[in-house]
Amino acid sequence: MDKVFNGQVALVTGGSRGIGRSIALSLASDGADVAILARNQERCQRVAAEIEQLGVRALALSVEVADYAQVEQAVKQLIGQFGRLDILVNNAGITRDGLLIRMSKPDWDEVLAVNLSGAFNLTRCAARHMLKARKGKILNITSVVGLTGNSGQANYAAAKAGIIGLTKTVAQELAPRGITVNAIAPGFIATDMTKGLSTEVKEQILNRIPLARFGTAEEVAAAAKFLLSPAADYITGQVISVNGGMYM
Ligand SMILES: NC(=O)c1ccc[n+]([C@@H]2O[C@H](COP(=O)([O-])OP(=O)(O)OC[C@H]3O[C@@H](n4cnc5c(N)ncnc54)[C@H](O)[C@@H]3O)[C@@H](O)[C@H]2O)c1
Repeated sequence: MDKVFNGQVALVTGGSRGIGRSIALSLASDGADVAILARNQERCQRVAAEIEQLGVRALALSVEVADYAQVEQAVKQLIGQFGRLDILVNNAGITRDGLLIRMSKPDWDEVLAVNLSGAFNLTRCAARHMLKARKGKILNITSVVGLTGNSGQANYAAAKAGIIGLTKTVAQELAPRGITVNAIAPGFIATDMTKGLSTEVKEQILNRIPLARFGTAEEVAAAAKFLLSPAADYITGQVISVNGGMYM
């Protein structure tokens, strides 16, 4: 039977673990060839091997998303190997938390460079191919804190709010060529990123989630799969929350 992403090529940043890995595996299990782009070569290759076991092609790209030249080279390599790029998921992200007054300039700069400029770098390089093909879907992973702000996360919340502005602007610019650009704003999802939180902080967060639990990476991947599928062809410039009702 034909799978929904058969014949398509996807690129997932931060695909070596957590939410990115779940999205990559979900797209691959529905027929897409998938390139994983993250910093750690070994972890990238491990996920690429998992993808190949699903019967599709995989590519491991060990790249720093904040470095435009590296990103440009990686997209070139991907096009050289797979010949096309239909789906881009900007998922790579980091946190360097601290109250504003104690936040160092390097911590501010690094989070903006990875979380926001990283998405710009990938989007600019990928859009060139999508514009030529008059086809493409871009999905950006923002966060509930990009919508609400969060004490101790000025850098992260600013970058994630920036992602929403980027999403809506690029959606308008690329719409005439049939390319859609959307964002998912996850709430608190059980991954490496949140596993370091203290029990006390986790309790405080749980009290603010009507569904009373953290989400899973698979639940974010399910929303991603919908937004990247033809079922969502008429949806663009939107931010879809996957947050257990934490922010309505
Ligand atoms: N976990 C949550 O609760 C949560 C909530 C809202 C939003 N998010 C967002 O979802 C995305 C994925 O989060 P996660 O929880 O899976 O995180 P994670 O820490 O488990 O994974 C992050 C991924 O990004 C990659 N990455 C980080 N910096 C990079 C860089 N400079 N260059 C290339 N790759 C880089 C890592 O290699 C890894 O694959 C992030 O953008 C995060 O901000 C997560």
